[in-house]
Amino acid sequence: MEPLLEVKDLATYFYTDEGIIKALDGISFSINEGEILGLVGETGCGKSVTATSIMGLIPSPPGKIVRGSILFKGKDLLSLSEQQMRRIRGKDIAMIFQDPASSLNPVLRVGFQVAEAIWAHLKTPIREAMLKAVELFGLVNIPDPHTAVNRYPHQLSGGMKQRVMIAMALSLNPKLLIADEPTTALDVSIQAQILSLIKILQRDYGSSVLLISHDLGVISTMAHRVAVMYSGLIVEQGRVEGLFQSPLHPYTQGLLAAIPRVDEDISELAVIEGTLPNPINPPAGCRFHPRCPWAMEICKSKRPAFKAVKPYHEVACYAYAD
Ligand SMILES: Nc1ncnc2c1ncn2[C@@H]1O[C@H](COP(=O)(O)OP(=O)(O)O)[C@@H](O)[C@H]1O
Ligand SMILES: [Mg+2]
Repeated sequence: MEPLLEVKDLATYFYTDEGIIKALDGISFSINEGEILGLVGETGCGKSVTATSIMGLIPSPPGKIVRGSILFKGKDLLSLSEQQMRRIRGKDIAMIFQDPASSLNPVLRVGFQVAEAIWAHLKTPIREAMLKAVELFGLVNIPDPHTAVNRYPHQLSGGMKQRVMIAMALSLNPKLLIADEPTTALDVSIQAQILSLIKILQRDYGSSVLLISHDLGVISTMAHRVAVMYSGLIVEQGRVEGLFQSPLHPYTQGLLAAIPRVDEDISELAVIEGTLPNPINPPAGCRFHPRCPWAMEICKSKRPAFKAVKPYHEVACYAYAD
């Protein structure tokens, strides 16, 4: 089966006064039709830059995609004009963000914003699109949708705003939804409801989802496959069950060991020593080597290639070299 999205050797740099930030330095992954891929890693490792690179929304300057390809249904998005890209955004590929307020216009009623998005892409007359908006608000469990469509963003809670964004995404029935930390800003009680809406989009609408989160719990309950990012690179990827049961990369092992368990004393948690490297002058070789308990001589000079150690489970680490 052809993957819906295939990212190959993608590198995105930011040219700043302090130096070149190599935010992504050659990442490769794919997403199949109807699949949820979880992208996980610490803050600053490049998750959002991955999302905005796919959406064609890297601010330039200072940003630039310097290498690689992003094949969507076999076509390289990097070869499209801004106008062609605009057509794909929101229709074929939709995105929801951590902060829904930033993607809503504060001076327009939320129902109108959803209707306008429908009109822009499907040319549905605006009155009809408004009725569709009411219907979608009901679908994402916004109480009293007829009243809610007439509200302004500031009159809605964070959870309700995120529902509006999901309604907007649903209205277009995108092939791919990119959800960048969609529940991080929300109360825990609301998180599960938003995640189940994303699940509905995938299951009932057949959309593929790139689900970005630093929360391993979210990824393990939602995703089919997971890719683990570290400092602008993917270090391990595989099916959720296999990866969570037997993580291969020392970084993934550390991440999983750091998940607090109810029965454990916080002070006894395993933590990975050190912090993410500076992306301006990242360590040579494997970027994780300064923090790695297994580091060998070769790790300091040569970047390890991906290797399928088990079926559907790949890792970039010399510990698994033949
Ligand atoms: N517009 C920008 N200008 C300069 N550096 C940026 C910009 N956007 C992101 N970066 C840098 O790229 C790296 C990855 O950031 P990001 O993708 O936002 O991380 P996260 O995994 O937390 O989403 C960080 O070092 C960040 O500082
Ligand atoms: Mg981010």
